[in-house]
Amino acid sequence: MNRVLVATGGGDCPGLNAVIRAIVKRASKEKNWEVIGSVEAFNGILREPTEIVVLDEKRVSGIHVQGGTIIGTTNKGGPFAWPVKKPDGTYDYVDRSDEMIRKLAYMDVDAVINIGGEGSQKISQMLYEKGLNIIGVPKTIDNDLLATDFTFGFQTAVQIATEAVDKLVSTAQSHNRTLILEVMGRYAGWIALHAAVAGGAEVCLIPEIPYDIQKVAERLESRYHKGRGFAIVVIAEGAKPIGGNVAGVKSDEVGYENLRLMGAASRLMKELKEAGFEADMRETVLGHLQRGGIPNAYDRILATEFGVKAFEMVLERDFGKMVAYRHPDIVSVPLKEVIGGEKLVTPDHPLVKAARGIGISFGD
Ligand code: F6P
Repeated sequence: MNRVLVATGGGDCPGLNAVIRAIVKRASKEKNWEVIGSVEAFNGILREPTEIVVLDEKRVSGIHVQGGTIIGTTNKGGPFAWPVKKPDGTYDYVDRSDEMIRKLAYMDVDAVINIGGEGSQKISQMLYEKGLNIIGVPKTIDNDLLATDFTFGFQTAVQIATEAVDKLVSTAQSHNRTLILEVMGRYAGWIALHAAVAGGAEVCLIPEIPYDIQKVAERLESRYHKGRGFAIVVIAEGAKPIGGNVAGVKSDEVGYENLRLMGAASRLMKELKEAGFEADMRETVLGHLQRGGIPNAYDRILATEFGVKAFEMVLERDFGKMVAYRHPDIVSVPLKEVIGGEKLVTPDHPLVKAARGIGISFGD
């Protein structure tokens, strides 16, 4: 019996279950393959007793329509930085990767499929360099992974953000207000850009184009007082003013390394008031609503293609690689090409040009 282990790491994302289902269904077409899942990324392997689940066709039946991940996930710690509490209450971070690789060999695991974002794929590459047969599958609502045109989860997040803009338009119109919607995306403005265009915002503020508050105020002024009497701003959580920093706080959660981005919308509201913009303003932070719920059709399809390809790469022993979408093909790319950078919105991106073409201001 050959055995493949699946793990989902990092923030959850609509489509994770569709990938798991596709891996299991494709594996079931081969003789003598078993798929198992590690609970909460690699924690299931590192814990004693081991926490794994057998993933067979019955278990994954119909899960492609479910949000989240049936095997759980985490964006803290991991095999290279396992938190160990010291007597004084602080934590040491221990490298348990060799122990994990030995345990996987003991469990007769032939290959690992690691579904996750950049942080998870960094771990995949490090494990590959230590000799583990591993394949990555790209996941993130932020769409900021290098080497793939799209990640699954992104289109669902854009749909949710767009529906939020649509709802805000009706209340902004009724009250003659300027409403500011803060969306996720970390240091990339993909969700904000797509939702601003799809929803018809006046202003779209993204990390890649730092904004000048006077320009934002002028644009809102012209739309608010001389135009339609209300305005919508879509701001990415990582947006920042020219010369300023992202709004965020360092998390005190054990093993959580990322800066928690928050406060971009409320800071903007304050800056607009200081700049003399007088309309009534309110902020909405969409938060984790963008990650929850069922994946849309596009993400289910992309996730299914990724899952099938990942298992076929296992059969071909195409390790140290990540599945990627390069329109119209699903290909494999070296993990090395994916890590250490981000796919950001370029100022001359066709969608930025289209947005400017219909009068959306980026505050620059
Ligand atoms: O990377 C996905 C993402 O949802 C980002 O858009 C966001 O900044 C971050 O994760 C939030 O992480 P957490 O779930 O830990 O708050």
